[in-house]
Amino acid sequence: MRPPHVAPEFDDWVRASLAEVESALERWVPADAPAGLGAAMRYGVLDGGKRLRPLLVRAAAEAVGGDAEAALRAGVAVELIHAYSLVHDDLPCMDNDVLRRGKPTVHVAYGEAQALLTGDAMQALAFELLTPSSGVAPALQARLCGLLARAAGHAGMAGGQAIDLASTGRRLDEPALRDMHMRKTGALLRASVLMGAACGDVGADAWCALADYGAAIGLAFQVVDDILDVTQPSQTLGKTAGKDRESNKPTYVSVLGLAASRERAFALREEALEALERSALPAQRLRALAHLVVDRTS
Ligand code: IPE
Ligand code: IPE
Ligand code: MG
Ligand code: MG
Ligand code: MG
Repeated sequence: MRPPHVAPEFDDWVRASLAEVESALERWVPADAPAGLGAAMRYGVLDGGKRLRPLLVRAAAEAVGGDAEAALRAGVAVELIHAYSLVHDDLPCMDNDVLRRGKPTVHVAYGEAQALLTGDAMQALAFELLTPSSGVAPALQARLCGLLARAAGHAGMAGGQAIDLASTGRRLDEPALRDMHMRKTGALLRASVLMGAACGDVGADAWCALADYGAAIGLAFQVVDDILDVTQPSQTLGKTAGKDRESNKPTYVSVLGLAASRERAFALREEALEALERSALPAQRLRALAHLVVDRTS
């Protein structure tokens, strides 16, 4: 998982962070939700996924000396929104996928109606976890809810998914593609960084620099997703390879070609790293995560 230029202690940090996120999800995603809903929710979010978004939240929070309890809740909340977006993305009325995180998709395992409700309940649970009755200051709760809601909703992920569906079979130019990718995928990744930053004390300049970092890796992440769809087998991806071409989706690969898409991902990583320099924060983990986003193979 570790690119060669990243310190070995980063692996230990990733391992410890993932263990913390897994145990929080285990604790907070209820098994006893009615009529099998809990089982479907846990199937959709536990035991799978790279957990990149919670890692970004935690790394950003640490860079600003942020509150660890708030950052953990924020990380789990954004992972729940992400997991919900995947459950819905895979539905027959959207991408119609049967494989996710190496398992049959939620609608294959539990039926379409239950998959729809699983996504709905995950989305609500994210906001429940951001608003505990104690332990996180009310003003921070409100800030985290606002950041997440804006990234998940019509202007962010859901809006981007609407553009994605409306663009199937059409040829987008690069600015339009960029806009779609920034919304459907970039917005939640950028919000992960900013939610982490909101957990601590950060000046306006550093906040803007972190927003730029988040936007650059957010777009890079989906450019790489488009690349991996054509370069990796289903077994490595844990989802069906070659799906974008089969479904006639406009992607960075279909619009720019593979080589130029790779160049674009590298350039976005440079942008992200420059933004971190500008932030003047101790951000070596965010730096390592930018490498991970671009160098990943699944
Ligand atoms: C896949 O996201 C969907 C996109 C937004 C491109 P991830 O590649 O982060 O999926 P998991 O969480 O690791 O399964
Ligand atoms: C998904 O984009 C973005 C989401 C908001 C879930 P894709 O449709 O490319 O994601 P995968 O390839 O199915 O994971
Ligand atoms: Mg999709
Ligand atoms: Mg999809
Ligand atoms: Mg994809």
